[in-house]
Amino acid sequence: MRNLTFAAILAAAILVCGCGSQVPQSYAYNAGINIIPIPVELTRNDGSFRLKSSTRICADSSAGVVADYFTAKIGRATGYALGRGDAASDVIRMAVDTALDVPSAEGYTLEVAPDLVTVTGKSAQGLFYGMQTFMQLLPAEIESSERVRGMEWTAPSVTVRDYPRFAYRGMMLDVTRHFNDVDFVKKQLDVLAMFKINRFHWHLTDDQLWAVEIKKYPELTRIGSVRHEQDGAVHEGYFTQEQIREVVAYAAERFIEVIPEIELPGHALAALSAYPQYSCTGGPFTHRLVWGVEPDIFCAGKDETFAFLEDILTEIASLFPGRYIHIGGDESPRDRWIECPDCRARMRAEGLKSPAELQIYFVLRIERHFNSLGKQIIGWDEILEGGVDPSATILSWRGTEGGIEAARAGHDVIMAPGEWLYIDKYQGAPEVEPVSIGGYLPLEKVYSFDPMPEGLTPEEEGRVIGAQANVWTEYMYEPGAPEYFIYPRILAVAEITWSPASRKDYADFSRRIDGALVRLDGHGIDYHIPMPEGPLSDRMVFIDSVALGFANTRHYPMVYTLDGTVPDSRSPLYTDTLRFGENTTLKIATLLPSGKTSRVREIEIVREPLSPATDRPSEPGIVSHTARGLFIDTLAMRDAEWSEPQIADGFARGRVESLDYKNPCVTVYEGLFEVPTDGVYTIFTDQYLLYVDGRPLIVNDGTTAIRHGLNKKTMALEAGRHSFTLVVNNRIVGGWPYTWSHATFYYIAPDSDKIVDIRSTELSH
Ligand code: ACM
Ligand code: ZN
Repeated sequence: MRNLTFAAILAAAILVCGCGSQVPQSYAYNAGINIIPIPVELTRNDGSFRLKSSTRICADSSAGVVADYFTAKIGRATGYALGRGDAASDVIRMAVDTALDVPSAEGYTLEVAPDLVTVTGKSAQGLFYGMQTFMQLLPAEIESSERVRGMEWTAPSVTVRDYPRFAYRGMMLDVTRHFNDVDFVKKQLDVLAMFKINRFHWHLTDDQLWAVEIKKYPELTRIGSVRHEQDGAVHEGYFTQEQIREVVAYAAERFIEVIPEIELPGHALAALSAYPQYSCTGGPFTHRLVWGVEPDIFCAGKDETFAFLEDILTEIASLFPGRYIHIGGDESPRDRWIECPDCRARMRAEGLKSPAELQIYFVLRIERHFNSLGKQIIGWDEILEGGVDPSATILSWRGTEGGIEAARAGHDVIMAPGEWLYIDKYQGAPEVEPVSIGGYLPLEKVYSFDPMPEGLTPEEEGRVIGAQANVWTEYMYEPGAPEYFIYPRILAVAEITWSPASRKDYADFSRRIDGALVRLDGHGIDYHIPMPEGPLSDRMVFIDSVALGFANTRHYPMVYTLDGTVPDSRSPLYTDTLRFGENTTLKIATLLPSGKTSRVREIEIVREPLSPATDRPSEPGIVSHTARGLFIDTLAMRDAEWSEPQIADGFARGRVESLDYKNPCVTVYEGLFEVPTDGVYTIFTDQYLLYVDGRPLIVNDGTTAIRHGLNKKTMALEAGRHSFTLVVNNRIVGGWPYTWSHATFYYIAPDSDKIVDIRSTELSH
């Protein structure tokens, strides 16, 4: 930092915003009733129940397991070892009553009175949910894994009658793109159960990894569970059968059914890398090193493929006692089948008129095997494309239309449309969020989804059994990273699948979220907190002064510092645009009612002179140099053997972008671009490096994928022509080949919000 005097900046900031107030630390998130999902019926009564060390748990025999679960849970946070037995007061009575007047076995009633808590489930599962509701009436700290001292553990007196709107309330986790282990899965099951989620769909196999042990085919894990990335990094992981059983049992204690997914006939390359003989071509294959859809799939012509898959599925069926097995079925290109003599012979022998009919044959043959094992299949909505047995359940992901069609055709339907329930999408502006798959899905949009589509008859509506959120992990690089994407959005999924549509109220849900987040803190969950958005770059250049305005997607307060310290609840509150006329480092974060802050956004605010335009003579076109090979960084490029320079009339659209990521190379483009006015430009590229006027402006370091203009910078440019060097490193980073991003860079002119693609402008050299 240059020219920084802290006092002057602070004075300037106060002049602008007139603030400096402190945010009171409070337990406001515990005020009122904050249950998620909101119950069907709840009446607030006078008084409250106080949980004490003397409180007893009274459980009938069918309630014993649930009583043990909550006794342990309460014990962890309160330090109370609650005794068993009945009494006239100071007791929590738990019972199961199969005749309870609620329309679902998952239903319950709960009466909290000053002297007594009575929880009655229609089943043990209903009781479990009644107790989860009771826990949510206690202060959020009750979810702490450690003893919390000095709390008064009171729950307001209420009468609750509650049951789910949908029987299927789920979440899918992909462990193949990035693996997360048993402890991670169990942690999620603990938390999902708190919010009455009852299905865990485990995406265990794909092109990028095979993540489940199959005893009969050890190569599936020896080879299929180890992915060697292009840069030499190894990504590996799988669940042993013992671990699978452990997770299934753990989930069952929390009334969660685990649904395994074995992908077929597509998304199968990890399996085929171990057993290429079950493909059409015979391979050899390695794991798919980029995301997306793979053409090599299981061969539908070879009987041995079916024998292989049936063996696998028989082992899977023995591990998962639930009624469902998911067989994938999505994104399965038929190109190989068209070419394959075995597949063609199969089509002739079975009288199949098209590869699409061959896919139906494939799914039906697998389905028959499952039905013989007493299982039902679930498949992605593609399996609907002609004739799958009505006993198959359809998971509608490409929208709700597949689900509607399936319900009309007599299938059970689970809604998981990407637009609302793919919780791998962005929750905020790309500049401030970790790289994600495309698309914007804030909490409010998830909440807005209604799993029940319009236009169905009552009978068809009965076939829409629920909804689930899908967590695909392509861009969730680090272990544990999915949590940031799952929470709090899964809480919206819990509410839209459990609570009646008439109880839906986003404003009230947003209020209840604040307490729920503290409950997540008790489990150490790394949930998303909206980031301060506004400035597009974390390096904001100015000429005279600059005004920066901030907002966050859920309208929480924001706090900031100008002295380099980390902002916290005692830091000045952001109230209005901040204006800067000196070099400053601004640190700003969103503040939750709990006092916890978001990740800190650090913005370097720097005065810069206009970078002068060049008046040297130039000719149309730009210069490019290429070197073959894999270059991990610029240091490696130093020793590259460069081709003779070529003159092109622009970035080689069609040429560079058709480069094959399997044959890496690097191309350096040099030239001049022109800007219309003096001022500060926002500049970005998804490519590896961009120099402007000889300065390394954008450095995408190559450790994770860069997309969506994540790394934007600002620069003060004089009107006229400026030199650039763009380095296009044709290789794969984090499953993303740079060739999937355009070979170009973009600017946003001063006082404009229009993005200018440099390829649409006059370039010269
Ligand atoms: C899917 O997202 N391909 C089911
Ligand atoms: Zn084939």
